[in-house]
Amino acid sequence: MGESSSQDGGATAGRTGVWLIGARGSVATTAVVGAAAIRAGLAPATGLVSELPEFHGCGLPAVGDLVFGGHDIVECALDKRAETLAEHGVLPPGLPALVGPALAAADAEIRPGVPAPAPPDQPSQAGQADRVRADLSGFRARHRLDQVVVVNLSATEPQPPPRPAYARLAELERALAGPEPVLPPSSLYAYAALRAGCGFVDFTPSAGARLPALDQLARELRLPYAGSDGKTGETLVKSVLAPMFADRALAVTSWSGTNLLGGGDGANLADPAVAASKTASKQQILAGTLGPVAGAVHIDFVPDLGDWKTAWDHIRFRGFLGVAMTMQFVWQGCDSALAAPLVLDLARFTARAQQAGRAGPLPALGFFFKDPVGSDEHRLSVQFDALRRWAAGLGAAA
Ligand SMILES: NC(=O)c1ccc[n+]([C@@H]2O[C@H](COP(=O)([O-])OP(=O)(O)OC[C@H]3O[C@@H](n4cnc5c(N)ncnc54)[C@H](O)[C@@H]3O)[C@@H](O)[C@H]2O)c1
Repeated sequence: MGESSSQDGGATAGRTGVWLIGARGSVATTAVVGAAAIRAGLAPATGLVSELPEFHGCGLPAVGDLVFGGHDIVECALDKRAETLAEHGVLPPGLPALVGPALAAADAEIRPGVPAPAPPDQPSQAGQADRVRADLSGFRARHRLDQVVVVNLSATEPQPPPRPAYARLAELERALAGPEPVLPPSSLYAYAALRAGCGFVDFTPSAGARLPALDQLARELRLPYAGSDGKTGETLVKSVLAPMFADRALAVTSWSGTNLLGGGDGANLADPAVAASKTASKQQILAGTLGPVAGAVHIDFVPDLGDWKTAWDHIRFRGFLGVAMTMQFVWQGCDSALAAPLVLDLARFTARAQQAGRAGPLPALGFFFKDPVGSDEHRLSVQFDALRRWAAGLGAAA
């Protein structure tokens, strides 16, 4: 395994590739621009958890050394996508032009993705997975990469219809060879990523690697996976506030949230079947921290918000002698600016975990997710401590 020297002088994950599913989307484009800007000294690393002093010495690959590629089902050039994001104020004006060569390099590594539903002339899903694997192997070979981490940033899928659970890998692989599609694209990408020897991160609430057969595959191949659904806004605040109510013995009686979203993600989540995946993962934190609480989460699409989102949460709680009180908060964030640094963090941690031989789900990365795989811990400060302890272990690993 080719090791190289990290920014802090210790062992590192080596040359690391980051393969983005949904590579031409807002979050993916912002991540590529951001990594290039940091590398060129054009922007500080604000928002990057992995750059905190706690994580120096863990052997993470340097942000500026990450090599990008990916899949998408649209063809819009990455520099055009970045310019649009700059026009909408997501990226600083002029920055896309300054990192033009890095955008062109990533653009040259974007391949056609697996569409859903598949057109009639598509090969079996086994054939599609072979193509994705070949794309990943080619990327690794061309750039002489030691590790490749695949990060799913594609449009959130509708909650999957009930399907056979595929408890065993052999059962899944038999089904993949048949004529009918059996996996949603996110799980097909996860399967192909693992078969290609890559770690897998799901930043979306889609099914991804969360199938027993894919968990088996990750463990057998000694590969890590992490997810699901990046915790960037309303749920991030909830994961701080809910433990506060619990620790102060205050009884939360209802917690209602309304989210206004623009952009591609907002348009996609305007479909109630798709929004169901998102609202389910957004509610996990309350049940996990406070037990059953009345109230619901709504998501509305407001096109002229662009990449900005507004969350308004209304919390009713009872204090001493049953006195009822209310707390409200409003969170107004830039979706891609919140998400992109986490994508870089996750790629760095997962690459290092892969190099250090960690296999199966990475519960310590639950800090980054609304619905963490391998963990039912949602309290942000507890998650951060777990991440710190786990990362210290990575620093000690060969
Ligand atoms: N921004 C945040 O704060 C945040 C937080 C948590 C999760 N997420 C999730 O991250 C994902 C990306 O968000 P975004 O704002 O960049 O969305 P976006 O709509 O801008 O980008 C999604 C991209 O995925 C591509 N795509 C769709 N189907 C595909 C397929 N089958 N294969 C390959 N590519 C495909 C689209 O063409 C598009 O370029 C969404 O699922 C969103 O729910 C975002």
